[in-house]
Amino acid sequence: MKPILSLCLFSALTLFSAESTSAQNKFVKTSQKNDTKWWKEAVVYQVYPRSFKDSDDDGVGDLKGIISKLDYIKSLGIDAVWLNPIYTSPNDDNGYDISDYRQIMTDFGTMEDFDLLLKGMHERGIKLIMDLVVNHSSDEHEWFKQSRSSRDNKYRDYYHWWPAEKGKPPYRWSFFDVNSDAWKYDAQTDAYYLHYFSQKQPDLNWENPKLRQEIYEMMRFWLDKGIDGFRMDAFQFASKDTTWPELPKGYEKNIIKYYGVGPHLHDYLQEMNREVFSKYDIMTVAEGAGSTPEDAMLFVDPDRKELNMAYHFESVDIGKHINDFGLVKYKDIFSRYDETFKDKGWLSIFLANHDQPRMVSKFGNDTPEFREISSKMLSTFIMTMRGTPYYYYGDELGMTNIRFDSIANYHDVDTRNKYIGLKNKGGDLKAFLEGQKQTSRENGRTPFQWDATKNAGFTTGKPWLKVNPNYNLINAEAQEKDPNSTLNYFRTLVQLRKKKPVLVYGKYTLLDRENPNVFAYTRELEGKKVLVLLNFSDKESSFNIGISTTKSKIILDNYTGTKNLKKNVLRPYEAALIELK
Ligand code: GLC
Repeated sequence: MKPILSLCLFSALTLFSAESTSAQNKFVKTSQKNDTKWWKEAVVYQVYPRSFKDSDDDGVGDLKGIISKLDYIKSLGIDAVWLNPIYTSPNDDNGYDISDYRQIMTDFGTMEDFDLLLKGMHERGIKLIMDLVVNHSSDEHEWFKQSRSSRDNKYRDYYHWWPAEKGKPPYRWSFFDVNSDAWKYDAQTDAYYLHYFSQKQPDLNWENPKLRQEIYEMMRFWLDKGIDGFRMDAFQFASKDTTWPELPKGYEKNIIKYYGVGPHLHDYLQEMNREVFSKYDIMTVAEGAGSTPEDAMLFVDPDRKELNMAYHFESVDIGKHINDFGLVKYKDIFSRYDETFKDKGWLSIFLANHDQPRMVSKFGNDTPEFREISSKMLSTFIMTMRGTPYYYYGDELGMTNIRFDSIANYHDVDTRNKYIGLKNKGGDLKAFLEGQKQTSRENGRTPFQWDATKNAGFTTGKPWLKVNPNYNLINAEAQEKDPNSTLNYFRTLVQLRKKKPVLVYGKYTLLDRENPNVFAYTRELEGKKVLVLLNFSDKESSFNIGISTTKSKIILDNYTGTKNLKKNVLRPYEAALIELK
């Protein structure tokens, strides 16, 4: 069928007046059988504190820096900030190796700064979600220092140890170890300890009830300060099969199955919920939730009383670049997850975070010709899917991968240790570095580009990680002035999502599944139906959706000027949001 859409553009910021409060009231009372929750309606903005804003010119972002930019954050219209770890840490893995869970990392400031940050957020109606990293601690945490000091120390069982007299422990792969070996020999007690991540990140032993209670107490400490939730870092790995069976051949292809979601994981989550979460009005989200939608449901099925939502990795682990894995496969992942979660449970929707390259470089096109338009298209996607959008700092500007040429530029333990490991084995380092240009986590960790002054206005010192040289072109100050910038388009989208319950709770239906370029779907709720059309390619692309759109109106389009979809064709990276009558 060939629908006719001949429509005029609404100026980006004047879209929504009609459906405001009354719709929201209706929204709360009658939207789907699923229960409505603030965290389902929220847009979460992720701030990587090391790279957001430096207030004291030591080249490292800090809490005072974030405080100085709270009005900017508020201006985005978002509801909550997820802050990567800010606790005391020797920074082997940029704060994901915590040596004191109740103190602030000196690089970032003091507890007083933290209290001011929280107050400043709450005054602006922004909630704060903290990272909770309790699958492992730092090897410099007091618990580990005690634990490794003798076999009968009372903290010994806070970690996993394998006595050397039993021979070598059964092999376990480590994400960040130079030799990919997760057991590290420690001469002090003639035993091996387990570290799924780097050697400086020993895994905590969740089988020990004393450890669990200490962690719950620490969580209550932060919640009593008034924070609004936790993002559970790598928690799917907390429960291990401590009979340590040999791994089957081919286990590498499904690490999560063999390493994560161990026999007691859900017992721990239910206990945590009883002892901590249920006592506060907060939001909890799991980083990673098994290997399938059904696994993920177990974390967030409200009847099970564990977590509120989960983000899975299938849609980001799918490959290096969308041109390699293809849009159809990509659509199928989202559709499969949505199908499982259509009646209960909740997911987050994200395209990037601090462990991923920049979204526009991976799923869009960061060449000068298409960077802006494809960034806007991707933002449209995130904001119009069912699930809570998690939006990574700088993506609102269309920040791109930095693509370092030399290993000397990298700080990340992941890249550096893999490089050393490969070098020791005589592997192809050139190919490795080429690959890192697409996949390295540091592509997404470069300092926020505030303006066109030195170091993009991030610091007047020496930035801890190089600023992307394109900051002259891509920066917040320039985009503030341009009503059609990616920044202002993002703001428009956030408002749109807030005013249109259908975008939060509406039923999702995929259309034109086999179309290799266009992702098309509808969202439907209580008589309202919107159509989302997204061209993921740099070519004009036709679509065939089998819906009459004759009397419909475009409520948002990422191209400026008159909209005309008459021929069922989208321009390169075009995104259109259409209200169907
Ligand atoms: C999570 C974090 C990542 C970190 C790892 C180990 O995946 O997102 O940055 O390196 O856990 O804590």
